[in-house]
Amino acid sequence: MPRADLFAPHDAPARPVRLVGPDVKLDGAAAAWAEAQGFRGKPGQLLLVPGPDGTPAEALFGTGERFEPARCRALGAGLPTGVWRLEGLAPDLAGRAAVAFGLGTYRFDRYRARPDAPAPQLALPEGVDGARVADIVAAAALTREMVDTPAADMGPLQLETIAREIAGAHAASLTVITGDALLEANYPSVHAVGRAADPARAPRLIELGWKLDQTALPLVALVGKGVVFDTGGLDIKPAVGMRNMKKDMGGAAHVLGLARLVMQADLPVRLVVIVPAVENAISGDAFRPGDILATRQGLTIEVGNTDAEGRLILADALTRAGEHSPELTLDFATLTGAARIALGPELPPLYTDDEALAADLLAAAAEVDDPLWRMPLWRGYRPAVEAEIADLRNDPAGWAQAGSVTAALFLQRFAPKTGAWAHLDVFAWNPRGRPGWPEGGEAQGLRAAFRLLETRYPR
Ligand code: BES
Ligand code: MN
Ligand code: ZN
Repeated sequence: MPRADLFAPHDAPARPVRLVGPDVKLDGAAAAWAEAQGFRGKPGQLLLVPGPDGTPAEALFGTGERFEPARCRALGAGLPTGVWRLEGLAPDLAGRAAVAFGLGTYRFDRYRARPDAPAPQLALPEGVDGARVADIVAAAALTREMVDTPAADMGPLQLETIAREIAGAHAASLTVITGDALLEANYPSVHAVGRAADPARAPRLIELGWKLDQTALPLVALVGKGVVFDTGGLDIKPAVGMRNMKKDMGGAAHVLGLARLVMQADLPVRLVVIVPAVENAISGDAFRPGDILATRQGLTIEVGNTDAEGRLILADALTRAGEHSPELTLDFATLTGAARIALGPELPPLYTDDEALAADLLAAAAEVDDPLWRMPLWRGYRPAVEAEIADLRNDPAGWAQAGSVTAALFLQRFAPKTGAWAHLDVFAWNPRGRPGWPEGGEAQGLRAAFRLLETRYPR
């Protein structure tokens, strides 16, 4: 949750944050204080400078050779409560700096006996649309908060409830198919993966629709992996691998945050959001290695490993998305550990065979400091997801090795045949805590995707 209003009016009384690069000469008391404190203007270095009464009168913020607006996350995290203004900020970077400041104020204190002090506020820089920036920051905060919330308090019902609240606030429709009704409604793979969970945490297919009656508008589908906890199933994960698996609904958290943002911005699109929400649990009714699952699309899948559950539920969800004939489909999923091996935790692999979409998404990513890295849907590895006694297998053959690629190739078999499709294999987590990037949930590719949609579908 954003802890206070992010912005104060442009002309509100505010203490200055001075951006200090190598060529900035400090003078007087600030220079002496900086010297005494070892402040050298290194990138991200923050120093509060006391006034005559001993309280912070201003702040110095190091920029290094080149000011990177994303570093302003450290200001949102490190400045004390109160209103601050950024001094010496190039106007073309003000929007990015404001978003970063807002992202930096995120703290997950829901489970603390005493909540943290209120976040600092930023006097709205000239030319920045405060409402838009606040909505973007709030979208990322929703995603992060959902990821950070323990699985006990973020089950399939909670995903449904959050989707319902978002739908209600924007006159969107919401339909939810739960438990054995999934079989009736033909979502066999969502049911198979989720059926072992406690009845109160039964699997469900959550579908939000916005402006669907405005058939002249282009239709965008967002699909998010909603595994509220991934034990691995009967192919149970070892302790280290299971520890953070509350974050396995990260894809769902991304698309719900993104969908809310699209609706707040009132982009001229129809929107369909599909979240298969399941707990990959262990019980007598759990799906098993060797089981062959039916899918909504008709292809059968031999389960080689119950821990490759995300692609199973996404198969049915992507098929459902295709039934709306979308012009554009984006899916977000914490799909593979292999993505992190390939690119590390900060750089989500992006997969698409649509060159224009790849170019536009990468450009958008760069514009909003929300990096993505394109990876190939390499045709040569397609046979790795074909099975001996079924159409597909969910555990790719070992020879292909590239686990994030083969997972994407698996999804591609179910992606909508209309329009373009992109898949983001997100980590949704900061493993390394540092000022502005606390250890915990992270939104990745959400702002890039919003920028893409804003650009493609201007109001
Ligand atoms: N949710 C995991 C992937 C994951 C693990 C994402 C760690 C981020 C961090 C997924 O369901 C999974 O377990 N995938 C397996 C697939 C394998 C069994 C084919 C993996 O990546 O090891
Ligand atoms: Mn898994
Ligand atoms: Zn998973």
